[in-house]
Amino acid sequence: EKDGFDHFMLKEIYEQPRAYRETISNRINHQLNTVDLSQEINLTEDYIKSIDKIHIVACGTAYHAGLVGKYVIEQLTRIPVEVDVASEYRYRNPIITPNTLVMVISQSGETADTLAALRESQRNGAKVLAITNVNGSSVSREADEVLLTHAGPEIAVASTKAYTSQLVAIYLFGLYLSQVRETHEDAAIAKYIQAIKELPAQAEKLLEFAPIIKQFAERFAKHEDLFFIGRSLDFAVSLEGSLKLKEISYIHSEAYPAGELKHGTLALITDGIPVIALATQEDIYEKMVSNIIEVKARNAYVLGIALEGDTELAKSVDEVITIPKTLPLLTPALSVIPLQLLAYYAALARGNDVDKPRNLAKSVTVE
Ligand code: M6R
Repeated sequence: EKDGFDHFMLKEIYEQPRAYRETISNRINHQLNTVDLSQEINLTEDYIKSIDKIHIVACGTAYHAGLVGKYVIEQLTRIPVEVDVASEYRYRNPIITPNTLVMVISQSGETADTLAALRESQRNGAKVLAITNVNGSSVSREADEVLLTHAGPEIAVASTKAYTSQLVAIYLFGLYLSQVRETHEDAAIAKYIQAIKELPAQAEKLLEFAPIIKQFAERFAKHEDLFFIGRSLDFAVSLEGSLKLKEISYIHSEAYPAGELKHGTLALITDGIPVIALATQEDIYEKMVSNIIEVKARNAYVLGIALEGDTELAKSVDEVITIPKTLPLLTPALSVIPLQLLAYYAALARGNDVDKPRNLAKSVTVE
């Protein structure tokens, strides 16, 4: 059932192009170049226009998808978005009104805290839209609206294809809201749709770099500490890369917003410490490069993640991995893939049980 792969995690990483196709399929009107979710979601035009804020609530990797969701939805719709981990949200007495749309994200649809947050939101009169992978799960049954991710069953404890298909579901939903609220020109929406359609083939191309990433991972596997840095969406992806690495390789790692390093964490950057620096966002690219120069000045060993065609970054880092070019909002769907592979190969090099890391369960159904 591992289809010839050594581990479910690797199989699931390689299933991402297919998962992308499934998540996109039947949700795009190819004639009009628009997103069509009307078969699945019954939110009226009046309701969508009345939403004054969105709360995204989830745990772990799904929470990291939510962090990307905040950037995406705010950029596409200008609706303010807050993101919380479910175990915090449910106890912090959040301000929920009937005009708050609460989005819960859960691969399994059975995570106890996420389910409790969903119920708390409904008690406060909000509608809940669930992004989940499991049809028939508790979350899918109790939510007012459900957007399935169609990633297929995910067995490895470390979530990979569930995360990337959650991102695609978020892109589609964000575009849908934007269409209804008319916050973008048709041509802009069409551009996003075109770029989303290219993601599966781009992910396939990226997976061809696995042998190179394996070499980096084997080098990093000898270290006990590692840092991920990035800004804006690259920071959100850094958090996911760091979680993945911790969870299966047991290497201590931290993800930091690159501009925040000087406020404390830079003290930890010493000779030879590995730093993975994501630099895929055009608007803050120069700022990111200056942060990279700061860690290089402390003799860090820097692996940069850049967009294809970037010839600049190589001048300030030790090694570069490039991802295919896409729109800035969509880069997380690609930049996370090398980070998943890094975590996988680092765990493998350390002889860990990749699919069943210590102390963790696939589905967290208790608080
Ligand atoms: O099933 P869920 O998406 O609700 O699960 C949430 C987290 O438990 C899960 O993403 C966890 O963080 C993964 N092990 C991360 O790889």
